[in-house]
Amino acid sequence: MQPWSFAHITDIHVGSPKSFRFKPSCNENWHTAREQIIEINPDLLLVGGDVARDGSLHRYELAAVKQDLDALPLPYHVVPGNMDTGNKHTDVQGANHDRDDLALNLTSDNIKHWESVFGPSQWTFVHNNVRFSGFCDMTLGSGLPEEEPLWEWLESLTDQPRSQYHVWMMHSALFVDDLHEANWDITDPEGYHNWYFAIDEPHRSRLMQVFKATGANLVLSGHVHCRKTHFAEGIRFDIGPSTAFPQWGDRWPDGDDTLGFLKYDVSDDGIEYNFVPLEKVSERDDGYGPGGHPLPHLRDYSIAWEPGGEPTVRG
Ligand SMILES: [Fe+2]
Repeated sequence: MQPWSFAHITDIHVGSPKSFRFKPSCNENWHTAREQIIEINPDLLLVGGDVARDGSLHRYELAAVKQDLDALPLPYHVVPGNMDTGNKHTDVQGANHDRDDLALNLTSDNIKHWESVFGPSQWTFVHNNVRFSGFCDMTLGSGLPEEEPLWEWLESLTDQPRSQYHVWMMHSALFVDDLHEANWDITDPEGYHNWYFAIDEPHRSRLMQVFKATGANLVLSGHVHCRKTHFAEGIRFDIGPSTAFPQWGDRWPDGDDTLGFLKYDVSDDGIEYNFVPLEKVSERDDGYGPGGHPLPHLRDYSIAWEPGGEPTVRG
């Protein structure tokens, strides 16, 4: 194999001045990263979700990011993030009282909304003898009509002919500390973010079976906004950094929430990991609106810098 490279960028959170909240620094950082990717000129770009600040509410945010991605001089492949669609499912409210976790559960409409802009949220293809497969992990454990077909699709990939390497991409981390950790408790203030960022059993083990049976070498995710690598049963799990804003920098001793993206060099020797920090982090500190998952009554569109940004899916 001739050596070649691909890039993985995630949690770019591009926002809009029509929204109830806007941080121009996130958009500036995305444009910096975009220029760096064009400069590096990888064969292809993987985009790990949370492409928009509030894509689940605003189709115009998803469409604007798609326009930026379509104009890149290289192919890209994208999976949805929870802010683009909806969160991992819960049957009970969580410990964070500033949000309504039940109302944030992923819905079928969220998936349709995303797919109406970006096309199918699950895909697999082979490039230069590397198979790449991506999907919407928030569907797993949701009980939505889309869940069983997704499992069937995931498990059907075991029948595909093997390539030299198999790279998987999802938005959430498969686990936080250990493949065999207990499910985190959404009602525990200490456990909330652990719950929020990872996949629960029994779905975690079922997914791990898929990864192993399909010859996975590398599993890429985002969501956390902190760079961290785990190994489990011979598979490398890379959580990529965000370009938008850092989070959870103190969660792991070797975690690094420096903003940037990942570049991988592929050869017969393996897939080499390189962190590419943003050349320049935006110093803009203007903008408006709340962070996190604000309750609907706290989404005030009257403070938006531009008009006409009200929700297109759920309010
Ligand atoms: Fe994110």
